Amino acid sequence: MGRPECLPRFFFSVASFFSYDQLCEWADVASTLTPPARLAVIGDPIGHSKSPQMHNPALQACGLEAQYVRVQVPVGQVKEAFGQFQKNGFLGVNITIPHKFEALEAVDFLDPLARQLGAVNTLAIRDGKLHGFNTDGPGFLRSVKEAFGAEVKDLRLLILGAGGGAGRAVAVQSVLAGCQHLLLANRTESKLAPLVQELASLGSAQVQTCSLAPADLAQQLAKVDLIVNATSVGMKAEDAPLLPAGCLEARHFVYDMVYRASGPTELIQAAEAAGAGHADGMCLLLHQGAISFEHWVPGHTAPLEAMRAGLAAANAGV
Ligand code: ATR
Repeated sequence: MGRPECLPRFFFSVASFFSYDQLCEWADVASTLTPPARLAVIGDPIGHSKSPQMHNPALQACGLEAQYVRVQVPVGQVKEAFGQFQKNGFLGVNITIPHKFEALEAVDFLDPLARQLGAVNTLAIRDGKLHGFNTDGPGFLRSVKEAFGAEVKDLRLLILGAGGGAGRAVAVQSVLAGCQHLLLANRTESKLAPLVQELASLGSAQVQTCSLAPADLAQQLAKVDLIVNATSVGMKAEDAPLLPAGCLEARHFVYDMVYRASGPTELIQAAEAAGAGHADGMCLLLHQGAISFEHWVPGHTAPLEAMRAGLAAANAGV
């Protein structure tokens, strides 16, 4: 992590990430950090995470002399890592792949929404206790509102990859927010049955399933407003597009949860070509991050524009 030109008062960590071993000897690391590290993101791998470039400008905008660092934590060590953060005076932690499920079991208090979504992406440490939250779901709702000027409850939703962890969370959060029409698609269709049952227990939404076969999707697209790609398709430039060519309309909203640093995914390109509204994984990163920040720093509204500018600079390689 470099020292951004726009932040002259701060000397951010120059390490790309800290190791689990370093976390266990944090007193040695802490003596080298100004301002002190009070927030972190854990994952494995973690060096690619752009969360520090979003949260450090936010901390500075709020006048808080603290910094946000990356720590690589191996699978199976999440509870121990949380103990180290607690011992060393951290305010909170973001949790990313592959630890969001392990984190569910590693907190003292689990927020009911995190329980329902089946994942913890935010730890807040308050009075020495570990509180687990999920801000991905609320971040999805906020980002839809910002990107499309619409509420999920008023939209008919198609989720591609609803059988995966991210797709399941979007489906559950959307039904909890009042969405009435959901169409779930997954490559392995058998994974959808338990989710359909679970959604039925949450409310009165009409939930249907379909395959990812191009002819099936082309027909179903006429009946939906918001299309969410929750599969990993698009992460690699060589990935074949999920949607058949030419089937998007200008009235569609397209939300690709994938973000590809090398340029827009095929799905985003197809949305642009159709004149449809679109948003990508950066939009979700921003809004889930803003909600996490407000869990850690009560009394502060997250400085969204500072966070957005930090992410834009990170994406531009500044
Ligand atoms: P995450 O927790 O990030 O959602 P995951 O649980 O591994 O990750 O889910 C990945 C999703 O992408 C799944 O819906 C997966 O479909 P399967 O359930 O059939 O595995 C989907 N996916 C991955 N590669 C895909 C591909 N090439 N075509 C279609 N769907 C794909």
